[in-house]
Amino acid sequence: MTTSPQSPGRPGKGGRSAKPEATIHNETINTLLNRRTIRAFTDETIDPDTVALLEETAQHAATSRYFNEWSAIRISDPTKARTIADMAHQDYVAQAPLLYIFLADQRRNADLAKREGIDIDSRGFVLNTGYVFLQSQNDAVLALHAMETAANSMGLGCVILGSVINDVNRMIDLLDLPRLVYPVLGLAIGHPAQDPPMKPRMPRPAQIFLDSYGRSDTPGTPDQALKDFDETVKLYYRDLRHMDAPRKTFSRIIADKACNPKEDHEPMLPSIQAQGFDMTR
Ligand SMILES: Cc1cc2nc3c(=O)[nH]c(=O)nc-3n(C[C@H](O)[C@H](O)[C@H](O)COP(=O)(O)O)c2cc1C
Repeated sequence: MTTSPQSPGRPGKGGRSAKPEATIHNETINTLLNRRTIRAFTDETIDPDTVALLEETAQHAATSRYFNEWSAIRISDPTKARTIADMAHQDYVAQAPLLYIFLADQRRNADLAKREGIDIDSRGFVLNTGYVFLQSQNDAVLALHAMETAANSMGLGCVILGSVINDVNRMIDLLDLPRLVYPVLGLAIGHPAQDPPMKPRMPRPAQIFLDSYGRSDTPGTPDQALKDFDETVKLYYRDLRHMDAPRKTFSRIIADKACNPKEDHEPMLPSIQAQGFDMTR
């Protein structure tokens, strides 16, 4: 293997220290606490053993009801990778030596059931319901996250790609996705060619509640925690000193996007239904 078990680099300004506050810490905890998105990769390839190991870690993620209702496509064709990068409007997608598209997948299970004599065109068929679609998405996300964490633990960098469904119908065509399969997220992996600072996270009372929404057992109210976070985010962007960094509070960043037509997306329901999922059930 060309990779070594190290964290992808020291956290920069704005991130938390590499050493967790809790008394129990180990390599897994450090990998998780030092995670950040990498969007630039060196030319170095990733050897087949490492690729196989990463794929195996994804397969070991939990899966709803043991249905194994996800799949992933590794994109090895540079022309396809380029097309995906263009669709995502993100050049670094084509730069990464490893690129996966994770899929919600009930096709395999439907085919297995059919071979066992089940009428998958009957009204009683329930592997195409809204519930199952959501569970398949959950499966795909968990598998992707396992692979991301494994890659990070080897010193590789990753970017998760929601942008791969910018033009979802084109993606479905590009990857020849059959009915009951729907693209969820991409994951680009490579050797980091950048050392970005870690983005600050919210103080826990703003995000982790106790027993009911908005209640906290840690000192401070959610409101105060959010005010503190606003300042932290503003300082974080100020310290970056990039001309294009927003230098706004978190509240302002969200407010600027909340009604922004650029943040609007074409409705997803038609393409989900066209792939055979019945979201009304
Ligand atoms: C569901 C999801 C979709 C994302 N899509 C993209 C994407 O399309 N392009 C990209 O550059 N980053 C993408 N990201 C990365 C986020 O922008 C990133 O996680 C966030 O800004 C926090 O930064 P950090 O990961 O460095 O902590 C995505 C992350 C998630 C969880």
